Amino acid sequence: MLTAINDTARIARAGWTLARHDALIPREYAHLAPAPLNALASVLRLGAANGTKRPGERLAIAFERLGPAYVKLGQFMATRPDIIGFELADDLARLQDKMPPFPEAEARREIEKAFGKPVDDLFTDFSAPIAAASIAQAHKARLKDSGEEVAVKILRPEIEQKAAREFRAFDRAARVLQSASKTIRRMEPVKFIETLKASAAIELDLRMEAGAASEIKEILAANPKTRAPKVHWPLTARRVLTVEWIDGVSVSDFAELERQGVDRKALANLVVDIFLDQALNAGFFHADMHQGNMIVDGEGRLALIDFGIMGRLDEDTRRTFAEIIYGFISRNYRRTADVHFDAGYISPEHSREEFAQALRAVGEPLQGRNAAQVDMSRVLQQLFDVTDLFDMHLRPELVLLQRTMVTVEGVSRMLDPEIDMWAAATPTVKSYIENSLGPRAQAEKLRAATRKAMDVAPKLPHYVEEIGKAAEEFSAMRREEKTPAPRHNLGVWLGLSAVVIAAAAFFFR
Ligand SMILES: Nc1ncnc2c1ncn2[C@@H]1O[C@H](COP(=O)(O)OP(=O)(O)O)[C@@H](O)[C@H]1O
Ligand SMILES: [Mg+2]
Repeated sequence: MLTAINDTARIARAGWTLARHDALIPREYAHLAPAPLNALASVLRLGAANGTKRPGERLAIAFERLGPAYVKLGQFMATRPDIIGFELADDLARLQDKMPPFPEAEARREIEKAFGKPVDDLFTDFSAPIAAASIAQAHKARLKDSGEEVAVKILRPEIEQKAAREFRAFDRAARVLQSASKTIRRMEPVKFIETLKASAAIELDLRMEAGAASEIKEILAANPKTRAPKVHWPLTARRVLTVEWIDGVSVSDFAELERQGVDRKALANLVVDIFLDQALNAGFFHADMHQGNMIVDGEGRLALIDFGIMGRLDEDTRRTFAEIIYGFISRNYRRTADVHFDAGYISPEHSREEFAQALRAVGEPLQGRNAAQVDMSRVLQQLFDVTDLFDMHLRPELVLLQRTMVTVEGVSRMLDPEIDMWAAATPTVKSYIENSLGPRAQAEKLRAATRKAMDVAPKLPHYVEEIGKAAEEFSAMRREEKTPAPRHNLGVWLGLSAVVIAAAAFFFR
């Protein structure tokens, strides 16, 4: 009972803040809500702030006001343009994850708690906070024993408990929403919040970030033009992460890059290159590659930092992704279409030719044009329109990949407005295709398959029976899948969810 009241109070506070920014039932979508609610919305909207901004911008401002859990919710929503629409996702992606720092004394207490020793026994020159975000803040220091410079990231005090409370309220709101409307139910809000919780749980354990940093360091080691910080494991715990300090210029500090005469064109290419290399060759990629998370060091190497949000792709997805890009580069739309069908992204009753035609409409306008002439977000919007048209089931990791691609494109375009993204992508994609799909790889696979076949030959009769069963299950599954995929309507979703939050807040009061 008490938690219900508590949750409701939280939802009500959120509803109020959203309303004050006209982000609860945005006027742009109000016409989709039933008339009485529309009237209520007009009243709530009176005197709302930021009237000239887009709905997504207003939502982002409200989320920043509402604190860490909402910032995470917004960032998470930004990774799903396939659900919430491209414009809103884009506006939310610009959400500023900056918060006032917590006091240095508290940071020191956290370190002492984690390692059972006073900070001065572990570090010297422990600095005041240098950057603070919703989940953690960073300090600069030196290791006491070796004198090496390090960055120390520390979780906000009690952030886990605070996040848990807000997420419980989200969950309650999502359940109310889910039972309120079929349209909303199709968006699976409860599952959405569950996934958000799971991804936040990873960010709330800095050992996971340390693991990611270490893995990316290994991946980048092959490229002498890049680097990632080394993890200092003895000074890393759930709430504290200690990594090598990277001395250099942040890629967001454009003026300083200029002053140091950094070759911007080469850097832009390198950004594209390392993204594709991680995604294709390693299947593990930094999914937050904005300019603030990249540093050019004293030797001109590009360093990645901040490994809180990562993406992982299995081999099939990687191959599909490479094939898709390669299809665009080589203008072989039929091949790209086949890849989509063969991967099961599109159900077989659609026409391959028509899908190829839709892809051609996306790809042809891009040929021979550089970044300055192409609006990549519009291209992606068009791609999502195509996926909607063909009831395509996008896997979340593929959406995260596409989203990261847009960020990467933005950074490289900022560095070199004339960059030709296709040309920049070609070498990595081509060599991946050659290595993983080329004749040598095929021969390797054949050899492995033959060896396996020899192993299993004696068990063959049993397998035949199993395969028969599986085939039956599969076709049954396919029949079920043929029910049309939900068409997501941002307006309806935003409007209705907002209304129900408001109503729930009112009734549970
Ligand atoms: N290894 C490092 N070397 C140099 N500066 C760092 C390092 N790690 C973090 N920083 C600085 O601290 C800031 C915040 O750290 P970051 O890991 O990006 O945390 P957040 O998740 O809050 O963005 C960075 O933008 C950068 O200025
Ligand atoms: Mg960062």
